[in-house]
Amino acid sequence: MDSNYLPGDFKKIIVSEEEIRGIISRIAKEITRDYSGKKLIICGILRGCFIFMADLIRQIDLPVEVSFIKVSSYGSGKEPGNIEIIEFDGLDKYKEYDIIVVDDILDTGNTFCRLEKYLKDKGFKSVNFCAFLDKPERRRSAVRVKYTGRQIENEFVVGYGLDLNEKYRNLPFVAAVK
Ligand code: PRP
Repeated sequence: MDSNYLPGDFKKIIVSEEEIRGIISRIAKEITRDYSGKKLIICGILRGCFIFMADLIRQIDLPVEVSFIKVSSYGSGKEPGNIEIIEFDGLDKYKEYDIIVVDDILDTGNTFCRLEKYLKDKGFKSVNFCAFLDKPERRRSAVRVKYTGRQIENEFVVGYGLDLNEKYRNLPFVAAVK
């Protein structure tokens, strides 16, 4: 799509709206197949997850429940131990559920790594992850991600939930900034 933002603010479009639709459709079909007959909760990590999660859950053909988690880093660096987790919506209620944690981007992997232990300790039947984008070059923590939209190079991207100083989350595509 043409945009008023382009070409001034961005180098190039990394994931177009058409490609995004294809990614959503593929992952939604995989989740529908894998979780048929199970009690599934999709948990988004605020704030970057919100657009991807909204598109994804509407394509999943199962009676899925939703919740959110807010993860904040503190102290120096972004190590797995230095993360505060704020729950929304009482995730304690869901011990008989399988959970998929959804986010816009997998970077160092520290957030997913920390959440895996946190959610397993709560007693979820299974804990899996779904990332719209993946920057494998940046990985520091080993995480097993069940559903990945697209791998990208190690460059700063915005749009489709991803921000630069809280701007550009509303772009309907993903672009690299200059
Ligand atoms: C980003 C992204 C992930 C996390 C991934 O969130 O949305 O939650 O970083 O990084 P990691 O794999 O290195 O742990 P950010 O802290 O930018 O907050 P936001 O979602 O509010 O934009």
